Amino acid sequence: MKVLVTGGMGYIGSHTCVQMIEEGIEPVIVDNLCNSKEAVLTRIHELTGVTPVFYQGDIRDRELLARIFNEHRIGSVIHFAGLKAVGESVEKPLEYYDNNVHGTLVLVDAMKTAGVTSLVFSSSATVYGDPDIMPITESTATGQVTNPYGRSKFMVEECLRDIQLAIPEFSITLLRYFNPVGAHPSGKMGEDPQGIPNNLMPFIAQVAVGRREYLSVFGDDYPTPDGTGVRDYIHVMDLADGHIAALKSVGETAGLHIFNLGTGQGSSVLEMVGAFSEACGYEIAFQICPRRAGDIAECWADTQKANELLGWKARFTVSEMAQDTWRWQSNNPQGY
Ligand code: NAD
Ligand code: UFG
Repeated sequence: MKVLVTGGMGYIGSHTCVQMIEEGIEPVIVDNLCNSKEAVLTRIHELTGVTPVFYQGDIRDRELLARIFNEHRIGSVIHFAGLKAVGESVEKPLEYYDNNVHGTLVLVDAMKTAGVTSLVFSSSATVYGDPDIMPITESTATGQVTNPYGRSKFMVEECLRDIQLAIPEFSITLLRYFNPVGAHPSGKMGEDPQGIPNNLMPFIAQVAVGRREYLSVFGDDYPTPDGTGVRDYIHVMDLADGHIAALKSVGETAGLHIFNLGTGQGSSVLEMVGAFSEACGYEIAFQICPRRAGDIAECWADTQKANELLGWKARFTVSEMAQDTWRWQSNNPQGY
């Protein structure tokens, strides 16, 4: 089967393409390289022996999408393409709504015209806002989002819900990721943020490799066991496998399917620093700083629905997440 992978050159998309190829699924990638590099294709080839078909272009380009659907018999679409930096989204809401919301609508319209009715969408635990009760289930209320990035994910979810109601033959799967971290265990593929990393793990990794002096720990006065923020970190390889499980189990079943992809375990910032120090063999320098605006104290997933209906369960431990990130970062100190 051929699967169109939008944003397939990015962090999560590239790892998913590798796993798809391992499973005999043929990815066709469209990516405008606004947050990734063409070198990713070479790494996919090194890992799998296959160079996927790659279209450099934008998902908002209707003609390009029509051409891709015309040139390939696409069975499903996995839609990763989008902008994802929370802080930047506050500065540039227009770009975020245009790319994430309008881009998705153009994509779904092209799918409809081409008669492709299976879509898996990269959503985020951010759609849950700051819920009172942990763990978060798929029926926890959504919509209390605090920034344009999160709102764009919530809006897309709502648009897709309406579209599926209006076109019932569509199979639409919303995968709500918790905190993706880690890298391919080979050390050849990983996260390569441009500029100063926004997220915890890539920041720690750059401290470890000497690109940054110390980690700022955003707050140690949260109501959590050690006072630092708690998140559900999930290895990117587990996340990649979650997409394949979703394609196989519900990708051909009409309806709206919603799953949390997490491990069900929360870890604090200081626990992540500890795991990384162990992986790289020396202490990670950090300073306690004020809380970051918009952050919540804790967030972890109830994974029962994905475990039961997708037959999928995250396998990697926090220690393996740290080891694989370190292998990638130390082999590729400047990224790709
Ligand atoms: P990423 O930036 O590494 O990958 C996204 C890819 O999409 C990039 O290669 C970029 O060049 C491409 N792209 C962006 N806009 C495009 C457009 N208009 N047309 C074509 N290509 C475009 O990000 P990622 O971490 O791999 O995230 C993938 C998806 O998962 C995103 O939708 C993101 O919002 C979502 N997500 C990520 C996280 C996370 O923490 N990484 C958490 C929850 C959800
Ligand atoms: N943190 C620090 N220092 C840093 C970076 C982060 O202390 O330099 C802390 C944060 O305060 C938080 C934890 O590390 O407690 C995790 O922060 P991240 O920025 O790595 O992740 P978030 O949970 O804030 O957000 C991520 C993605 C969002 C996504 C969300 C839920 O960035 O896109 O997970 O999936 F929506």
